[in-house]
Amino acid sequence: MDKVIEFSHNLISKVVTKDDTTLDLTVGNGNDTLFLAAISKQVIGFDIQEAAINNTKKKLEGYDNVTLYLDSHENLDKYNLANIKAIIMNLGYLPNGDKNITTMAKSSLNALKKALKALMVTGIMVIVIYKGHQEGYKESIKIRNYVKKLDQKYYQVLQYEFINQINNPPYVIAIEKIKDEDK
Ligand SMILES: C[S@@+](CC[C@H](N)C(=O)[O-])C[C@H]1O[C@@H](n2cnc3c(N)ncnc32)[C@H](O)[C@@H]1O
Repeated sequence: MDKVIEFSHNLISKVVTKDDTTLDLTVGNGNDTLFLAAISKQVIGFDIQEAAINNTKKKLEGYDNVTLYLDSHENLDKYNLANIKAIIMNLGYLPNGDKNITTMAKSSLNALKKALKALMVTGIMVIVIYKGHQEGYKESIKIRNYVKKLDQKYYQVLQYEFINQINNPPYVIAIEKIKDEDK
């Protein structure tokens, strides 16, 4: 069975082509951004840490299709983003970085709501949730409660989780937009 990141990337690979724009809401060390850069026409990425933006820039040497913003994903609506084919939001803190700087339940949920507006029909948003730390546990509850109630007329939502692993392993929420809410 695929691990959570592999599973997330596979879902995205199935829908994204070289004509598409994609979005990474937490670039971190740039692994997801690099994956998106290789399969998309254009990638837009956000992170609040300069270290993350720099790590990602290094990883993306040779790619000229990525724009990175040192800003919170909660502000993504300020960048006029629309028709995005795939979005990844890998929550938590920067691996090998400051564990006190982590995504927060309230802003992650706001970003998720804004991101769904920017997602095009047939597009997919993937969220990787780490419920094993305190803020991650809050995020897990808030996000699950929200996505569970998304109207199935407009969205399909799935959860991918290894339920017999110890130490609260990360799990995936994936959301496919099947119809625009205002249509
Ligand atoms: C688990 S890491 C991301 C891993 C990354 N996708 C990768 O492939 O290496 C989470 C990242 O979220 C960032 N972050 C925390 N709060 C944020 C916010 N409000 N907006 C954007 N990024 C945020 C952290 O700085 C950290 O780099």
